[in-house]
Order: sequence, then C-alpha cells, then structure tokens
Amino acid sequence: MADRYLSFTGTAPGRFLTRRLGLPQPAQLRREALTGGLLHLAAGKTELDLASVLDRTGLAPDTDGHPAAVVLDATGVRDVDTLAGVHAALHPVVRSVATSGRVVVLGAPLDPADHHQAAVQQALEGFTRSLGKEIGRGRTVNLVRLTDASAAESTLRFLLSPASAYVSGQVIEVGPAAGSPTAVPDDAELPLAGRTALVTGAARGIGAAVAGSLAGRGARVVVLDVPQAGQEARRLAERLGGTALALDITAADAGERIAAAVPGGLDVLVHNAGITRDRRLANMPAERWSSVLDVNLASVLRTTDALLAAGAVNRGGRIVATASIAGLAGNAGQTNYGASKAGIAGLVRSLAPHALAGHGVTVNAVAPGFIETKMTAAVPLFIREAGRRMNSLGQGGLPVDVAETTAWLAHPASGAVNGQVVRVCGQSLLGA
Ligand code: NAI
Repeated sequence: MADRYLSFTGTAPGRFLTRRLGLPQPAQLRREALTGGLLHLAAGKTELDLASVLDRTGLAPDTDGHPAAVVLDATGVRDVDTLAGVHAALHPVVRSVATSGRVVVLGAPLDPADHHQAAVQQALEGFTRSLGKEIGRGRTVNLVRLTDASAAESTLRFLLSPASAYVSGQVIEVGPAAGSPTAVPDDAELPLAGRTALVTGAARGIGAAVAGSLAGRGARVVVLDVPQAGQEARRLAERLGGTALALDITAADAGERIAAAVPGGLDVLVHNAGITRDRRLANMPAERWSSVLDVNLASVLRTTDALLAAGAVNRGGRIVATASIAGLAGNAGQTNYGASKAGIAGLVRSLAPHALAGHGVTVNAVAPGFIETKMTAAVPLFIREAGRRMNSLGQGGLPVDVAETTAWLAHPASGAVNGQVVRVCGQSLLGA
C-alpha cells in the first residue's frame, strides 16, 4: 500500500497545508545519490587517520556550504571541556546539511580506567540520538565507535551513502577485527563475486530484496523458502541467476539439507524467514507460541549449529540474522514474536566474539522497524499510520533499506563489524 501522505507532503499545496496544521513533514529520502560534498570536522585532539579513508568514499570535499555529509571526529573527546568542541563544530553547520544528508559522529571505545572519558564518550550517544530526532528533512545521524579508521572504511562508506537512508540514531561499534578487516575485494563494484549467499524466506518481501542486493554485488544466491512458495522462489532465483531451495526451515534436518545444496560452502548466510502469530499472552494458545519461536529462533539456532558443525560456513563468512525493533522494545500482542527476536540479538552477541572469530566469520543482526511490505500493508489503517510516522524520518522504510544494510554487513571488508544489532527503523520511537 503506497504511503499517500508522504506523496501529498511532497507537493507544494500538501507542504503548505500540513505545515499550517502542524502535521509531520516527512522528506522523500534519496536512495539514488547524495547531492553535495563532505565536511570533515574534529573535536578534541584526534589521532585517527581519517583523511585517506574519507577520500575513498567518493564524496568530494564540500565547497558550497551545503554538505551532503558531515563527519565529526570526536574520538579525542576526553572531558566535558573537549565535549564542548562537539557543539562548537556542529552548531554553525547543522542547519546547512543537505536534505536527506548524513551526520556521522565518530567516538572512541569507553575507557574503563578513565571515568571522565567514559562519561563524555557515552554522552555522544545521547547527543547523536537527540540530534537525530530534531534534525529533520530526511537527514540521519549515527555514531560509530572505532579505534582504526581503515577497519571502519566499509561502515563509513555505507553510512555516507544512499544505502543507509533509513538508518538513523544508531551506535555502531567497529573492531576489533574478525579475521582480516580490510580484505579488499577484487572488484569494488562486485565485492561478492565468486561468493555464495543463502537467504531464508527469500521468495518475497524483505528476503527477496536482500537476495537482490547480494546478487547485485556479484553473489551466487540461493533463494530458500517453503515449498508452497516454490514458484515465486524459482522465478526470483532465475531472475538473479541463482538457484531456489524449497525447504521448510523448521525441518529437523534443514541445516544438513542446506549444506548438501551448497557443496562449496556458504560465504553469506542470511536468516530472514520469520512469521508473526499475534495474540496477548492471556489469549495465546501454546501452538501460537511454539510456531513463532520455532521459525524465528529455534530454526536459526539449529541450522546455524548444523552448518558450523558441517564446516559449511566458509572462512571469512558472514552470518546476518533478522531481529526486529519489537524484540528490542517489546510490543503488545507480541510476547512470542518479541521473545523470538530478542533471542536473535542474544544469539548474535554470544556467538560473535567467541565461536567464530578465529575463522574471520562475523555474526550480526539487522532489526527492521516499520517496513513497507505485504505484511505491514495488512495492518489496520491507524496502527499502520502510527508505525509509519512514529520515527524520526516520519515514514516507513522499504525492503531495499534492510537489504542494503545486510549487504554492508555481508561485505568482505566488514570483518571488523561483529556482534552488532543494527536497527533499520528511521529511529523509531519504539525502544529508541
Ligand atoms: P514476509 O511474510 O513478507 O516474508 C517472509 C518469508 O519467509 C515468506 O516468503 C515466507 O514464506 C518465508 N517463511 C516463513 N516461514 C518459513 C519457513 N518455516 N521456512 C522457510 N521460509 C519461511 O515477511 P517480511 O516482512 O519480508 O519479513 C522478513 C523478516 O523481517 C522476518 O523475519 C520478519 O519478522 C522481519 N521483520 C519485518 C518487519 C516489517 O515491517 N515487514 C519489521 C521487523 C522485522
């Protein structure tokens, strides 16, 4: 279902009327290209070697005073006095950032031996999230905590590109690296060339978009979905030059069957299949509980274990699971779904640092907010409108926004991004 309000506020009379009535003013997000240059600022004394990394983002330095992107290096902020440098740097320029532009704040890991440094570095989170809520005009604000600029290159490229249009108010930690963080792919345009990716629940919706984004970067994709969706899965696989695998992911031997279908192993594994069976706990039969937990969490645990045990996840592999903001914030009527999706976050945080780092395998999650799919089109009008507007960007995201975020996590050069749960929610008010 199209977002008619967004289209209406994009017209001159619509803008006039909604402004007069004090209604939300969502901006059309740019998903093609950012328009404008890059402004590189710093607060505090920094040791980060950033200039060459920013050079390679493809954004020219800002010359006309309307930057498409502002990067503020605040890694050197160690006390309240130097924190004032954040205000001093951004106060004069924030108004001039282009529509649908980017503000990226760079912070340092919190120093457990220095509570002043830890306090002001944590302060950057509150700063980033507050600026994200007030900046408006489709502009996003994110914080990256890093120690090494080159390990963060793929992350900065993502955040400084149209691919991150619906990612705002996030805190992303980069490093220490799993394996080789800066593995430079042979072909920058096709970083996944020669790699095999499997996406579960890929016949439609977000999964289909993820398969498209990975195939667009050169991956051979395996489109997995239930046998009932076999025709759609085959059609998509054909279009993407991949293969379809008709399989119910809850089957006890799903992991073994996936391993058998990819004899050369998997480089990218995306656990996207998910279902909802909403009911308040007092009215929820055990079957509704178990079906959601089985598809959304138990099958993810089971297949991941089986694939790892079979050695079917290749060195340098990327595992991306799909959580949800409902799992992070909780949602009435979704105790089963919320539990399953919070479980995904727990799985990611536990598996990422210990089990796989020696093989350069990363494990991360995307947590979508309100995404325009068949699932959300079926939501009653008022709840749907609330879902669309109650975020800093005032609109729902598109499947491609989740897909592009997944593609960043799946990138060979994203080895230093590990154990992260990244929300793709336009900075939803839910659990923000
Ligand atoms: P969708 O319902 O459009 O697509 C889900 C796909 O998973 C379908 O093709 C379905 O056949 C497949 N699937 C379901 N059970 C399966 C099983 N047992 N084995 C194999 N395939 C199975 O859903 P949508 O909206 O594309 O969501 C994708 C993921 O994103 C899900 O995990 C969902 O929970 C999550 N999500 C979606 C949000 C949204 O706003 N659409 C918000 C937050 C999270």
